[in-house]
Amino acid sequence: MIVAIDGPAGAGKSTVAKILAKKLGFLYIDTGAMYRALTLKALNNNVSTGNQDAVIALARTVKIELLHNPDGSLTVMLDGADVSMAIRQPRITQVVSDVAKIKEVREILVNMQRECGEKGDCVLDGRDIGTVVFPQAEKKFFIDASREERTRRRFKELRGMGEKIEEAAVAQDLANRDRIDSTRQTSPLRRAPDALYIDTTDLSIEQVVEKMFSLCKKNAE
Ligand code: DC
Repeated sequence: MIVAIDGPAGAGKSTVAKILAKKLGFLYIDTGAMYRALTLKALNNNVSTGNQDAVIALARTVKIELLHNPDGSLTVMLDGADVSMAIRQPRITQVVSDVAKIKEVREILVNMQRECGEKGDCVLDGRDIGTVVFPQAEKKFFIDASREERTRRRFKELRGMGEKIEEAAVAQDLANRDRIDSTRQTSPLRRAPDALYIDTTDLSIEQVVEKMFSLCKKNAE
């Protein structure tokens, strides 16, 4: 069974996806981590994310692996090196949408995501899982929250990681990514017509997971 979770940045998708996958005994696939890993590769190679041809060339040879840890977390490997922390840096977040909007990059990474998903029961989170990657997914969710709440969550997360960033900068980054992710030509962020919309602004993580879990269980019966 494939569970597709889409939604804007900071809505809490990866947090709930990870817990839901563990509860269901499914693999968790963080597709945003793949776009982030490729972005890191570009920066490591002094390739500007605006240089689309060079980024596409890197995408053709990149090796990205998601290793599943017993506690449900993921280790993200880029060409054999652990980049799980490095891909969360603000310098990656600021430009990842420019990499994710490139059509050829999406084709390559979507193929990788389909290969991962075809291995068995999976929970995938991203922007286009229910619309493009797995339109036939048995269960689809669209997770959302107000811009203010998403900013608060991202800010808390980044401060927790020791980043000295201002809340206004986080708000600016979210607004920018929302704009690029939802207006790009190739598979923009859209709610699939058959996706269940969940506004998590006033819900706890447990409430969201419980709601999703009971719906997935119903579907599996
Ligand atoms: O979920 P995230 O913040 O880690 O995603 C990083 C970026 O990757 C995000 O700005 C949009 C892009 N993305 C995408 O275009 N399609 C996906 N399936 C996942 C992420």
